[in-house]
Amino acid sequence: MAQEDKFKKLVAHCKEYGYVFPSSEIYDGLSAVYDYGQYGVELKNNIKKYWWDSMVLLNDNIVGLDSAIFMHPTIWKASGHVDAFNDPLIDNKDSKKRYRADVLIEEHLAKIDDKITKEVEKARERFGESFDEKKFRETNPRVLANQLKIDDLNTRFSKALNETDLVELKQIIIDNEIVCPISGTRNWTDVRQFNLMFSTEMGSTAEGANKIYLRPETAQGIFVNFLNVQKTGRMKIPFGIAQIGKAFRNEIVARQFIFRMREFEQMEMQFFVQPGTELEWFKKWKEVRMKWHQALGFGSENYRFHDHVKLAHYANAATDIEFKFPFGFKEVEGIHSRTDYDLKQHQEYSGKKMQYFDPEKGESYIPYVIETSIGVDRMFLQVISAAYHEEELKKEDGSTDIRVVLRLPSFLAPVKLAVMPLVKKDGLPEIAEKIVHDLKFDFNCQYDEKDSIGRRYRRQDAIGTPYCITIDHQTLEDKSVTIRYRDTMEQERVSIEQLKEIIKEKVSIQGLLKKL
Ligand code: GAP
Repeated sequence: MAQEDKFKKLVAHCKEYGYVFPSSEIYDGLSAVYDYGQYGVELKNNIKKYWWDSMVLLNDNIVGLDSAIFMHPTIWKASGHVDAFNDPLIDNKDSKKRYRADVLIEEHLAKIDDKITKEVEKARERFGESFDEKKFRETNPRVLANQLKIDDLNTRFSKALNETDLVELKQIIIDNEIVCPISGTRNWTDVRQFNLMFSTEMGSTAEGANKIYLRPETAQGIFVNFLNVQKTGRMKIPFGIAQIGKAFRNEIVARQFIFRMREFEQMEMQFFVQPGTELEWFKKWKEVRMKWHQALGFGSENYRFHDHVKLAHYANAATDIEFKFPFGFKEVEGIHSRTDYDLKQHQEYSGKKMQYFDPEKGESYIPYVIETSIGVDRMFLQVISAAYHEEELKKEDGSTDIRVVLRLPSFLAPVKLAVMPLVKKDGLPEIAEKIVHDLKFDFNCQYDEKDSIGRRYRRQDAIGTPYCITIDHQTLEDKSVTIRYRDTMEQERVSIEQLKEIIKEKVSIQGLLKKL
């Protein structure tokens, strides 16, 4: 299946099965804002628990925080967001569509890179076993010419971004003959800066209302509480503060479903370290976070690091963990070595000391910070796009059928088990209801008696339920039931008494956490 088709089907599936709905849908929706349905909210909560436990439960030097969304407006002046949290935007005069100038250029670079990849793949097919990719890349004239284009363009692009040279950004678009994907023309406006923060007013006009911002990242809530947590928790460096919460950005281009939203959720952890040790910690957190992603079992080939060439003014190292979405490798998580920039800025703007007294060194200093920052919604998209499968099944009469199945890791699945009486009589529903009643304190269970058993299995496959329990007439005789496994569709007979232990072992978060 073409990846684009897969993505469209995935979006439709999320809506049809109660995972994600467009926000305000009866009013024709609100651009780049989404609601999570009955299964979506469960999956989201499980993702958050996996992250939270891996940070706060497994590390005795990491604690949690829940800071307010509204914060003093000077915080955003100090952090640099008021002056510099901008994206360069450009409009196409014919289609009237708005784009991020940097994204247009990045997409153009990706197209050239695709040409190289195609050339390499063609050669691999032609030469088979004896193919030497490195040598091919170093000698093939077409690959070399395209690589040169990429390198030249990257140099020019990085310089324009670093110097915030908007005229040069437009010139790059013109020189590379980049067209609007809608109108196909090169009739562009000038590039302008656009601040991504949403603002609102606090207090009534009579009192003199204050302009405040909806936070564009949760991190600043951690920075401004750094000493509160350190002192009250008697934390010793190195230590971390973890937080999960909503963030808001007025994104210029909000596309690709929940990948880029205007209201989203972040899971961020700031790790405070001794100055000079930050690059070691940066390396360590890169490894830890990659392991966290890969423990879900979606295949290590679907992840990669993308180290930043252009560093933000406050960072001395930065990387993204990218996942292979149906629309290509894209960032899911950022890991940044933010130096002492944020704490220093808050010290300057608030006039309050942000120093830590290190008892081992016998001196005070402003700690350096390693940040790990991941979007809950983007992680949700990662999980659901990796889990979505369409399988061709052979029926008994020789024809084929398509089974849609969400192969979610059991711990993340919204419903852990569905309990189904084979028929709605002979006392089978009562036994099924009793099983649900007994197990619902431990797992999210669902009772399902509607439609044929085959259709019920398919419904559970489509929402990703890993286990289905069926009660049949044999249950009346020997108190045994069948347990059906979502991924293999195999069935096994087990006694009702064993159910709790069997399921518990399979769906527990412990198994996942122990891999870390
Ligand atoms: N505190 C650092 C920070 O916010 P970022 O790279 O701008 O860094 C971190 O964002 C993560 O937040 C991204 O890797 C992504 O997963 C998520 N994210 C950022 N903008 C988003 C958006 N508009 N919609 C959904 N997720 C977003």
